[in-house]
Amino acid sequence: MPTSESLAGSARQTKATLAQWQACRARSLQLALPLSDADATAQSMDDASPTKWHLAHTTWFFEEFVLSRFVEGYRRFDAAYAFLFNSYYDAVGPRHARSKRGLLTRPSLDEVYRYRAHVDEALAAALAGEMLCEQALELVTLGQHHEEQHQELLLTDILHLFSENPLRPAYVRQPRVSGALPIDTSLSWVNFPGGIKSVGHKGRGFAFDSETPAHDVLIRPFQLASRLVTNRDWLAFIDAKGYDEPGFWLSDGFARAQALRWRAPLYWEQRDGVWWQMSLAGMLPLELDAPVSHVSFFEADAFARFSQARLPTEFEWECAAADLPVVGNVLDFQRLRPMPAAKQAASTPSQMFGDVWEWTASPFMAYPRFRASEGAVGEYNGKFMNGQFVLRGGSCATPPGHVSATYRNFFYPHQRWQFAGVRLAKDLP
Ligand SMILES: [Fe+2]
Repeated sequence: MPTSESLAGSARQTKATLAQWQACRARSLQLALPLSDADATAQSMDDASPTKWHLAHTTWFFEEFVLSRFVEGYRRFDAAYAFLFNSYYDAVGPRHARSKRGLLTRPSLDEVYRYRAHVDEALAAALAGEMLCEQALELVTLGQHHEEQHQELLLTDILHLFSENPLRPAYVRQPRVSGALPIDTSLSWVNFPGGIKSVGHKGRGFAFDSETPAHDVLIRPFQLASRLVTNRDWLAFIDAKGYDEPGFWLSDGFARAQALRWRAPLYWEQRDGVWWQMSLAGMLPLELDAPVSHVSFFEADAFARFSQARLPTEFEWECAAADLPVVGNVLDFQRLRPMPAAKQAASTPSQMFGDVWEWTASPFMAYPRFRASEGAVGEYNGKFMNGQFVLRGGSCATPPGHVSATYRNFFYPHQRWQFAGVRLAKDLP
């Protein structure tokens, strides 16, 4: 029988869940604020989704997995939305083609806002009334972290959409100055001992199923670069004809780079001999000391070989990050771009969290004894453990509080539109 203490504890927990969930929902609206209905409807490529779809799909997640299953008497806003806004859950039912999301001129953006309000009202009432069981509360928390992932995608998809517009519109205007912190462009190497290390999520707090179970791995002694690879570093690769030197590249990567005529990271443009970069603030002169961003795994891997180094494994990265505070240049309207490294102690690597996701040499695979979550949400991560590589650390578009040292992001090795960059590693004897 629950004690009054445990009941008070669970009431506190529900209150905290409600507050965090509301803050998350409000952030999505804030992110959409600078956009017109047309901005929010267009889709620039199959990998990217319209803002309107992100806003509706994250709402559908709560409607489908929480309200319609755990709240008696809940009435769906529109039965057709289950087809329009299901992303990839085969167990839930059929869905609209991913490549055709940009054709959804209806429902309008206003209608999607009404859909969000309908779901928010029902879920807020269920949370405030403590009507949800533990399983439903866990799904609310999963839905919140899911929405945070879509908030980052909303930004990277808008950046891609605007980069396709010859006007190169700015999503936000912001100062270009790097801030008051002294910049440190020197690169040193931080040594890490080898040994049997525990990796993966353990203990309390939210984690995606792909971060579990925690397990032991054997790490050889290694070095990690004290900072991320910069745009200046990348120019040296370009100047050395790195994009044309097959010796630096994996075969699939070289074939793709040649076929698509990659000459620089995505969003770089040379005008009258000067490099510019498309950003969420529109076109900006290339900031030489800022971390390179929007490179594929193939490019990151080639750059590492050019540098006589390699990419870290995901577990090397995790061991290096395990004792660091989770602070860095994450989503903030004042920046929304990777920033140069600030001066800090030479004994720890800087920029581990935020700025750009760091490609690792590790394929996105299940951890030993992995078990996908029960039910339809078991499709969340497990079925994507094929052909993708792990990225660690979060980016300047990642909502605050979303990443941790054990968090595993993943993309296909050719994909470039995320804020993805490079940190080098080397073997130690
Ligand atoms: Fe999703």
